[in-house]
Amino acid sequence: MKQDLLSFKDWTDEQLKSLLALAKTIKANPAGYRTALDGLSVVALFEKPSLRTRVSFDIGINKLGGHLVYLDSQSNKLAGREDVKDMGANLACWADAIVARVFAHSTLEELAESAKVPVINALCDMYHPCQAVADYLTISEHYDDLSKVKLAYIGDGNNVTHSLMLVGVALGCEVVVVTPKGHEVDENIVKLTQQRAAKFGGTLTISNDIDAAIGSQVLYTDTWLSMGDNTPLADIKDTFSGFEIDEALMEKTGADYVLHCQPAHRDLEISGSLIDGEQSLLFQQAENRMHGQNAILVQLLASDFQPKN
Ligand code: CP
Ligand code: NVA
Repeated sequence: MKQDLLSFKDWTDEQLKSLLALAKTIKANPAGYRTALDGLSVVALFEKPSLRTRVSFDIGINKLGGHLVYLDSQSNKLAGREDVKDMGANLACWADAIVARVFAHSTLEELAESAKVPVINALCDMYHPCQAVADYLTISEHYDDLSKVKLAYIGDGNNVTHSLMLVGVALGCEVVVVTPKGHEVDENIVKLTQQRAAKFGGTLTISNDIDAAIGSQVLYTDTWLSMGDNTPLADIKDTFSGFEIDEALMEKTGADYVLHCQPAHRDLEISGSLIDGEQSLLFQQAENRMHGQNAILVQLLASDFQPKN
């Protein structure tokens, strides 16, 4: 039976750990995986812009010996020209997997239902699972034991936050989410994350107080305005005042490193000098997008593949 990756809601700690281990193996031995997707084709549908996701999937699939067809929403509207479910059924006639970046999570569910090949979420309104794999791969390259890591996400509660929460607690992390009032994460995802924490051993703290981040090893932030949110920046700047990540906050919290999924807005949610400084893991995170996604692709499309050396 095909396996989709729409969120990591149903993935166990063992499944997530094994995916991270595979990502590390592929990263360490790219030559061994050069034919992992030999003869396989992936269609990438993007309703929203992308730099990292689009390029890392394209180049990553090439490195695994597969082929990517990119469809942007300008020339191939997901809604309007034909039903999403017909689109999914058609694409599955030729493609071995569908990678999709969409506005609504329900679009991914429709694609997954109609396509007989795996559908991979490349970001939607609720989740960014591929990002979370890269994030925890990056953190695990600095800390052997994730159960000793306190990770504080600071900023707007959004798709990236949700995936960080769902995956982080299953890996045993102490996840803290600090947002201004009115920008909290989804309540259902909080409940689900708490259930996962009880099962797998991590913890989740939700707060509007920046001091909840004190004692973190890693701070994480994202844009205050996600794609599709047309609120003028001027309207929310005051709300987010005090939630910027800069050198002073790194010192106050005692954090070793800072992460940001990017695109970043220098000197807004994160100081430019921090992005360029020694505590920044932003570009390691960006590189790991590709290794994480390659692990997802191998897991979903070629789980029997034996590396060549
Ligand atoms: N982090 C991330 O998904 O970047 P893009 O929007 O550029 O793909
Ligand atoms: N939360 C951001 C992530 C971009 C990678 C957005 O949805 O725009």
